[in-house]
This record gives sequence, C-alpha cells and structure tokens, in this order.
Amino acid sequence: MSIRKIKIFDTTLRDGEQCPGASMNKEEKLTVARQLARLNVDIIEAGFPIASEDDFEGVRLIAKEVRGPVIAGLARARKEDIERAGEAVSGAEKSRIHTFIATSEIHMQRKLRMSSEGVLEAAVSAVRLARQLTDDVEFSAEDASRSDLDFLCRIIEAVIDAGASTVNIPDTVGYALPVEFGALIERIMNRVPNVDKTVISVHCHNDLGLAVANSISAVVSGAGQVECTINGIGERAGNASLEEVVMAFKTRGQFLNADTAINTREIYRTSRLVSSVTGMVVQPNKAIVGANAFAHESGIHQDGLLKDKRTYEIMTPESVGIQMHKLVLGKHSGRHAFKNKIEALGYNLSDEEINRTFDRFKKVADQKKEVFEEDLEAIVSDEVCRIPEKYVLKYIHVESGSDKTPTATVQLGIDGVDIREVSNGDGPVDAAYRTIKSIAGASGNLLSYEVKAITGGTDALGEVTVRVEDGGRTVVGQGADTDIIVASAKAYLNALNRLAFYQRR
Ligand code: KIV
Ligand code: ZN
Repeated sequence: MSIRKIKIFDTTLRDGEQCPGASMNKEEKLTVARQLARLNVDIIEAGFPIASEDDFEGVRLIAKEVRGPVIAGLARARKEDIERAGEAVSGAEKSRIHTFIATSEIHMQRKLRMSSEGVLEAAVSAVRLARQLTDDVEFSAEDASRSDLDFLCRIIEAVIDAGASTVNIPDTVGYALPVEFGALIERIMNRVPNVDKTVISVHCHNDLGLAVANSISAVVSGAGQVECTINGIGERAGNASLEEVVMAFKTRGQFLNADTAINTREIYRTSRLVSSVTGMVVQPNKAIVGANAFAHESGIHQDGLLKDKRTYEIMTPESVGIQMHKLVLGKHSGRHAFKNKIEALGYNLSDEEINRTFDRFKKVADQKKEVFEEDLEAIVSDEVCRIPEKYVLKYIHVESGSDKTPTATVQLGIDGVDIREVSNGDGPVDAAYRTIKSIAGASGNLLSYEVKAITGGTDALGEVTVRVEDGGRTVVGQGADTDIIVASAKAYLNALNRLAFYQRR
C-alpha cells in the first residue's frame, strides 16, 4: 500500500498570531512566510484580511512575494469578508479563500443567534461567492466537534456541492479525545456521500493537551490535511504543533501509513524564527524543538548512546536541523568564510547586512573564541530583524554587589543627540532599565523579561526577550550579547524602538 501524503496547512500567521502578545508586523510576517515556504508547507494561512488594514496588507504582501505554497486568507461566511479575502490573495501564484461559520447548537444559538437552516444557507452562499473569486475554497464548520452529527454531515455535503475543495473539521475548544475525534472523522468519511470530492481537514486546539494526538487520530481515520502552527502557538493553549505532527509522521510513517512533504531540516530554524519574532519563548522540554529535546543527562542513557545511538534516540537532532553545538568559526575567520557560512545556513543577506553582522561576529569571536551555529543565528536575528533605531545604546556601565546599591550609567543617542544619566535600581537590570526609561522619557510597562543562554559555558551568548506594553500596544524586544546586562539593555531598547516606530507610522 502506498504511503498517503498529508497536506500541512500552517496557520501560525493567523490562528498563531491570535495568541496574546504574539502579534507581528507585515515585514515580520513576510519573513516568517518565506521561511514557511522553505519548510515546504502546502498551505500558508497568511491572515484574516477583514480584521484590520494591517492584516489585509500582510496577506497581500505574502501573496505577492511568496511562491510555492498556496496562500490562504480567512473570511467569515459574509460577503464583505470574502471579497476582502479574495482581494488580499489575488496576487498569489496559488490562492485559497478559507470561509467559516459555527455549526454547534451553542454557537448558533448564543453567538450567531441564527437557526441551523440560516447557517446552512450562509455557508453555501459563502462557498459559492468564494468560488467566483478563486478555484480553491476551504470551508470550516467552527466548533464541529461539539456539533450535531446529522447537521454537520448535511452542511458538509452542501458545501462540497457548492464547490468547497477542502472541508475543515475544527476542534475549536480543544474538547475532543483522540478516540472520539478519530471516530467523528470516520463517520463523516462514511456518511457524507460526496466526501470523495473534497479533502477533509482537521484543526485541533490544545486545551486538554491533545491537539497533536487528535490530529493524528483523524488522519488515521481518513483526514488528508492537518492545520497546525509552529511551536504550537495559538489561541489559549494553542494549536497542534507543526513540528510534533510532522515528526510523528516522519518517525512513525510506516505504522501510520502517512507522511508529509515537509523539509524537516528546516524545522528548528523555523521554530527559532517564530520564537524570536513573536517573543514566545519555547519551553526547554518542548518535544522536537525544546532546548532539552535531544539532551541526555543520565549516565545510563549516555552510556547506551555511545554504544549505539538508537538505544535512546528515535530521531536525530540533525533530522530537524539541529546541529549540536557545531563549531563553525573562530576569531581568525575572515569575511569570506563568514559570508559562506551565513549562506550555508540559508540566509540571504544584503552586503550592508553582511557587513553589520560580520562586525558583530568579530566582537563576539574576540570575547568567546569559539562561535557556534546557534550564536550565528542569534547574531543574524539580532542585527537583521532590527527596525529603525530612534534610541541607540552608546554606553552602559552597571555597578552592583552584595553591599552595593545597583547603579547604572547609561548613554543613549536619541535622534543624533547623546544623553547620559545615572540611576539606582533593585538589581542591575532594574537599574539599567530605570535609567533607559528616564532618558527616553518612555511610559511603557515591562510585562515580561526572559533570559536564555544560547550555547553552554559561562562565556555563552545570552539572549534576552522582553515584552513591553504602551497605550494598548504590546511589542517584543530582543537582544543578544555575551554580557547579560548589555543584552538586557539592547532588548529593552529594541522594544522601545519598535514602539517609537509604530507611533511614527
Ligand atoms: O478554531 C477554529 O475553529 C478556527 C476556525 C476559524 C478554523 O480557527
Ligand atoms: Zn483555531
């Protein structure tokens, strides 16, 4: 029996972006979309065009620029939504309109205040209208897993007749259990007479931690598309995590009789990119992409691994693109070797970006002697993902100790003018942040602060991620340096520069 190819529909830029604090600007969305294309996902859901002008522009830009995957735009089952989504994806090489309406009693009665017949009519009209704008139309029955089965089957049959080439069965509130969800898909496959004219898709939320298990169970029952997000980000507890779904098929494909077209060696880089753009840090024990996913601590495990890797390793770190602390460059490496390495890592930088990242690499190599691939990735994301800088860090010196009040001296360049101030704080980072805040006259609130070492050792590059809120807008700031206080200052300034950038637009 030949192995079934399951389509991967990535909704990081739509459902993933809906999670609190994960919003991205359109340039960041384009960077992520380009990486999703390298990952070789089948469909990129680029956004919800009617939701805002920014959302519309983001989808339009991705449709224009990204080649390979189908580019989808989400629309409620309403004329104005569908027309807006159609306009946003019209420049795509392959476009899809994804329209949805809720089908469960609770949603129809309490949220939509519509009868089931009204919902059915709206769904059919939406699909028909979308089909006038593109050949590829997906319909989602929101809250399908809590919907009445007879009604669900009726609406699926009707939208397929109206031209839906994909019908999605979401477990919107993450309520389903794997056996139950698999059985639901099996019933749909057996009861809907025209089901062979469409692809049945699934879209599982993770409220009970079962999104990946439910998705796999659905594929076993006949689903041909899985909707998921990088690092599992999304509403509430998130969506099914793309890397977990994909690696389950890659590792257990024989048993599941299914695989995907994903280039799994791009998984780790995509995870890092999404984490750095959204500021959503990946938990260390996260399957596939967490810092500990391939770390073996116990002596028994290490002994087994040395004898034969297969004793404790069901997939290799290399298969998901993790190079275990691979030494790449040293302090004597030249610009040419640096450029080659950056290109081999898959980055396509302009000459100006190469110059900037090379200068930065030289400073890091002086401090660290050995520079690993992970360090290079951090340097590139730190330098290249920068936005125009209103505030530039010129100088920072912090004194602290067990018998000292932490004191920071900071000099910032603001629109070309240098200002220096000194302030105290509850700790060295607090002192630095108070001083920066005072010089910049900033009003933003620091919502979160996280620090992580990129590689091992006390000379490792530290990467700081902060989330800052001002006037209802939340931004993420990141900075990397071998000095953790400098990395913290950079991250905070990166966030303030983002806020200033958005205020100017
Ligand atoms: O969770 C959900 O039901 C959705 C739909 C819009 C597909 O995100
Ligand atoms: Zn969803």
